[in-house]
Parts: sequence; C-alpha cells; structure tokens
Amino acid sequence: MDFDLKDIGLAGEGKNKIEWAAKEMPVLRGIREDFLKNKPLKNLTVGACLHVTSETANLMIALKEGGANAALCASNPLSTQDDVAASLVEDFKIKVFAIKGEDNKTYYKHINSVLDIKPQVTMDDGADLISAIHSSRKELLGGVYGGTEETTTGVTRLKSMEKNGVLFYPIVAVNDAKTKHFFDNRYGTGQSTIDGILRATNILLAGKKFVIVGYGWCGRGIATRAKGMGASVIILEVDPLKALEAKLDGYDVMSSREAAKVGDIFVSATGNKNVIGEVILTSCRDNVILANSGHFDAEIDLNYLKTNSKSKRKVRPFVEEYLMKDGRKIYVLAEGRLVNLSAAEGHPASVMDMSFANQALSVKYIFENSSSLLKKVYSVPEEIDRKIAKLKLESMGVKIDKLTHEQEEYLSSWEIGT
Ligand code: ADE
Repeated sequence: MDFDLKDIGLAGEGKNKIEWAAKEMPVLRGIREDFLKNKPLKNLTVGACLHVTSETANLMIALKEGGANAALCASNPLSTQDDVAASLVEDFKIKVFAIKGEDNKTYYKHINSVLDIKPQVTMDDGADLISAIHSSRKELLGGVYGGTEETTTGVTRLKSMEKNGVLFYPIVAVNDAKTKHFFDNRYGTGQSTIDGILRATNILLAGKKFVIVGYGWCGRGIATRAKGMGASVIILEVDPLKALEAKLDGYDVMSSREAAKVGDIFVSATGNKNVIGEVILTSCRDNVILANSGHFDAEIDLNYLKTNSKSKRKVRPFVEEYLMKDGRKIYVLAEGRLVNLSAAEGHPASVMDMSFANQALSVKYIFENSSSLLKKVYSVPEEIDRKIAKLKLESMGVKIDKLTHEQEEYLSSWEIGT
C-alpha cells in the first residue's frame, strides 16, 4: 500500500490516541456503526486533505467502514500528528501522505499522491485539494461527484470560484452547518488557541492585555476563554457591527495603532492578510507574543519582521524570537501557522464529533445525490444539521421540551394579536 509518513513505528502510540478521541465522539460513533452495517459508501473513492489528527482518524475510519476507499494528506504542513498517521496506515490500512514539518514541495507532493487515487469525492480544510485539482490535475475533474469543505477560509475561496464560473463540481460547505461553526469555530478554536499559546510559552494569561484581531465566531470563542483566564481582552475589528457587538460583550475595542501601544499578546483570527501588520509591528512593545489562529499563515506580516529584524532564533519549540533593528524583541508562535494545531492538538474531540459527523453525512449525501447536484456551493441539508444537534444532546443525557400543539398553532397563525 502506498503511503508517506515519518515513522511507522509510532503506530502504537497513534492507535491509543485515536481510541482516546473516539470516546468523546459519540455522534460519529453512531454514524460509524450505521456505515459498517449498511455500507452506504461502497466502492466510493474519497480523497481527503484535512489536519491529520486523532479526530480526523476517526472520520477516515468511519468512511472506510462505510465501504469507501480513502486516502488522506495534511491540510497544513505543521498540523500532522505523526503517530496518528502511522496508525492509520498500520492498523487501519488507510493511505496517508503527511509528515509534521514537511516543506511546501512535499506538502503539494502529498496532495498529488491523494489525487493519484482519482477521488470521486474530495474533502478539504482550506480548499488546497480542490484548488490543485482545478489547476494542475484538471484531467481528474470529470470523475468527481462533489466535495466537502470544512473551514470558513475554504468556503470563501470556493464561493469566489463559483462566482467566477470556475467551480467544476458541487461542494457541500460543512463549515456553514450550525452544528459546525456555532461550536467548532467558537468553543473549539476558543479552547485550542489558548491551549496552543500556553503549551508553546507557558505564560500566565491573568493580568495580560490580550489583543484579538477579528470578532467572528473564532475571535468570539478566543475572547471568552482569554477573559475567563483573567486576561484583559482587546478586540480589533473592521466591521462596525461586529465591533459594536464586541464592545457590548464587554471588551475594549480599539484601532491597531492604539492596541499596539498596550498589547502583550496578539492573536489573529480573520482569514485575511497581514492583519498583524506594519501598524502593529512598528510600534508594539518589547517582548510581545504574536500568534495566528486563522487557516493560512498570511495573517502575521512575517516579511515585515524579516526585513526589519537583525536576527531570528528559536527560543523554545514553536517560539521564534525576532530581534528588531530598534532593539525590541518580538516572539512569533508556530511560524505564524495555526497555533492550535501546530503547538497543540487542535480542537478537542467532543467538538470535532459534530464537525466530522457533518463531514461523514455530507459525503454520503453527495454520493446519493450526485446526479442532481449542480456546480455550486451548497449548505449542509437542514435535516442533517438538526439530526446531529439532537444526537449530540442525547449523548450528553440532555432532554429538551417539545412545543405543544397549541403553541405550534399560535406560532403559525397571524390572526391573533393583542
Ligand atoms: N481543526 C481544528 N481542530 C481539529 C482537529 N482536532 N482535528 C482535525 N481538524 C481540526
């Protein structure tokens, strides 16, 4: 079997991790049992470009048990858990092409290895696989039924492809499911970003001025958790509505110029370029820490740091110190890549349970509906979203009420007023 990983000898540790994550993924477990019994993905070829973690491993195993022939590569050069990759190959006979710390050339070589299996369904986190198939592997496009996309940044790229008429197969935007972004982007990113910063630096958050760039679902999640650990949170936003929401949520909201003078830690979560850029980097204080939680490593202006520093050295795993020409020291975590997946293990399994339940059911949906889907970006069907919420609640032992008949009638009537 074809694969490329760091060390197959790590499989034992990886298997333990995969089993540990599985305990916290009851919704995916239910889907896996159903897949095993009914084989809804029989003979389907699935190519996945996702963060290679213990949670992703559980998704890949579910697809395989559903009858799919699946291969996996990394969606970020730093996010692979090498032991998990080894176990997927050794214990579950799933093809994996991923090595933590791989260079750009290897990253794309691995994407091409997944494309070599001629996927009928693609799964992406950031749209790099879809982008490769639409540019350098166009000959495969005709054989693809559809694809899924996990993250906000990927969905933005794909909507732009659809708008420009260059999207050649249907996509289900997993990110847009409520059971994905309400939970994964907020509680997942909230906890795992703090986890990554703490594992990399071991700093005390209490009493620090913690600046978050972007108040979308991820920014909101990070803000809540940083506040909970005693930091004073400052939000930078370009959208007046989100800025207002942050202010009324109780945070300080200011401009980059103002925040630069006071911030101790800066974290970006915008999906945009150079948001921790020249304005902040020219005037930020000595010893500030910079981290990124957005999908690509474009959010911190590393070029500015390179051009305006005298030297750079690694001071701890995932911490680089830039000695600036004016004598200040600036610390960048995980080379500006996703700090939660590079310096920690990504979102906890319990939240990935819902995201990956959406992925698994969306793959099945694409397979079953391939003849009617158009070359568009679709939302996850509402029934799937609600089913996942219901199953997750059940797994937590939470019971909720139902509307009475009288209440249902009241809500659907327009005659009854004051
Ligand atoms: N994205 C964020 N956290 C993740 C995880 N634990 N596994 C896969 N993808 C992720």
